[in-house]
Amino acid sequence: MKTLKVLVACEESQTVCKAFRELGHEAYSCDIQECSGGHPEWHIVGDVLEQLDKEWDLIIAHPPCTYLSRGGCRWLFPNGKLNEERYKKGLEAKEFFLKFYNLKCKFVVIENPIPHKVFNMPKESQLIQPYEFGHKAQKSTLLWLKGLPKLKPTNIVEPEYYICKKGWRHSKFCANWDAKKKSVTFSGIAKAMAKQYGDFINSGMSVEEWLDNIMENTKEEYEE
Ligand SMILES: C[S@@+](CC[C@H](N)C(=O)[O-])C[C@H]1O[C@@H](n2cnc3c(N)ncnc32)[C@H](O)[C@@H]1O
Repeated sequence: MKTLKVLVACEESQTVCKAFRELGHEAYSCDIQECSGGHPEWHIVGDVLEQLDKEWDLIIAHPPCTYLSRGGCRWLFPNGKLNEERYKKGLEAKEFFLKFYNLKCKFVVIENPIPHKVFNMPKESQLIQPYEFGHKAQKSTLLWLKGLPKLKPTNIVEPEYYICKKGWRHSKFCANWDAKKKSVTFSGIAKAMAKQYGDFINSGMSVEEWLDNIMENTKEEYEE
């Protein structure tokens, strides 16, 4: 197995970074904040845009979504009128998102919640839920994939609580979670990314070959 050089952009928790490290890859998280994941030796503190031109086999990005997400629409249109200040911040967030979307790196993943349609974001590749990866939580999460197959559910369980279903007022059992806690990637999703993306890139196959040869039995799941 080839050790992959992986950049996990906009990640202070190091959840995805550590999942790749556990499988022997050379992964680094990067965030403007210090890391809380316990491995500063694998963490780059600073603007991730300065890291993007380096040689990475895979870049996984979690860009800020506060001003882009559909969940924030009641602040974007208070009393039905557009909040110009918030809209401008949303456009800046979109510009930042597009830096990852337009990367030259062969394999790229961008993760974000469902964006508000006013921002006319690129179409996502797939929608995943934590409850497809062993967590009893519902949190609609979009992935934009470049060069990679869709992430395959690893352990589907019954969801018991919602995170940002229609805004925090509707959240069940996690109303006291702060924004930071809500933004941390679920470990089951991180583990699935490390295993599936790592195996796929190491296989040297195209997405089509991978689906035909390796995933023949579960092809329908990928195509849903
Ligand atoms: C939605 S949170 C993602 C959190 C991530 N899922 C985790 O588990 O740590 C967005 C993150 O982007 C970071 N960020 C914002 N601008 C950045 C920049 N220019 N370079 C690096 N990180 C940045 C923020 O500090 C924040 O931690």
